[in-house]
Amino acid sequence: MKQFAPAKINLYLHILGRRPDGFHELETLMAPITLGDTLHLDLISTGIEFTCSDPALSDAQDNLATRAARIFLEEFKSDTGVRIHLEKAVPVGAGLGGGSSDAAAVLLALRELTGIKASDSELAELAARLGSDIPFFIYGQPAVCRGRGEIIEPVKLKETYQGLLVHPGFGVSTPWAYKTYAQNPQQGAPGRSFADVTLRNDLEPPAFSKYPWLPTTKSWFREQAEVLDSLMSGSGSSVFALTRSANEADTLRKRFLAEFGSTLFATSFSVMNQAGH
Ligand code: C5P
Repeated sequence: MKQFAPAKINLYLHILGRRPDGFHELETLMAPITLGDTLHLDLISTGIEFTCSDPALSDAQDNLATRAARIFLEEFKSDTGVRIHLEKAVPVGAGLGGGSSDAAAVLLALRELTGIKASDSELAELAARLGSDIPFFIYGQPAVCRGRGEIIEPVKLKETYQGLLVHPGFGVSTPWAYKTYAQNPQQGAPGRSFADVTLRNDLEPPAFSKYPWLPTTKSWFREQAEVLDSLMSGSGSSVFALTRSANEADTLRKRFLAEFGSTLFATSFSVMNQAGH
């Protein structure tokens, strides 16, 4: 079976404090977007087989997708195996939740393929053991996420958010971003307010201080006539710009590539406001 694994953007990310477990207490509005990976899954008699279109991930037997398969089959005492092929479209280390969404997609697909009766909240509980933002992808719709990210409150957004998403070709380490934030906690600069949200990402200050490409790109976006506002997603390194229409996002995309280099990753996107499964 084929399973789409959407990426996410954070429309805001507020860090509320440090927790006794070392994680940070968050309140973040996350939304799945039309960019995503595609997984192909088949049940096999035994074992977990994994291949990937990205050679860098191919031999990683310990990636999130295979770990999700293992935890699902163990938890529900299933004696079947699974073959997974992952077509990677979402940049890695980009603050887009690509690996987390792949893991959630494996859990959702295995529930369907095996016929095991597990509720979304049971799957989300399994997902939380694998990573903080994986439960969000079980629900697959915009949500305010709290705790370390695993407490999910789905919301229906009033506006259609769309625009351009770009990635510099290097990643930002999430543990590094939180650690650097903890050394000098400061809020991200608040941006423009929309019906549902005032854009703000508290992981921008640490990421911007180490990687000048990020604030340069955000500032450039904010000077472009099509752009409503711009923000880094998650712990970076991707930056998105919201526009009024897909046409404007496309015009912006061409200008961005001409200005910043034609080999960079740049894709137009829209937020998915309905559950995708
Ligand atoms: O849960 P996940 O593996 O995605 O988190 C990666 C790292 O990001 C954690 O090990 C932690 O250092 C940091 N983190 C955090 N607070 C959160 C989420 C992640 O400090 N709410």
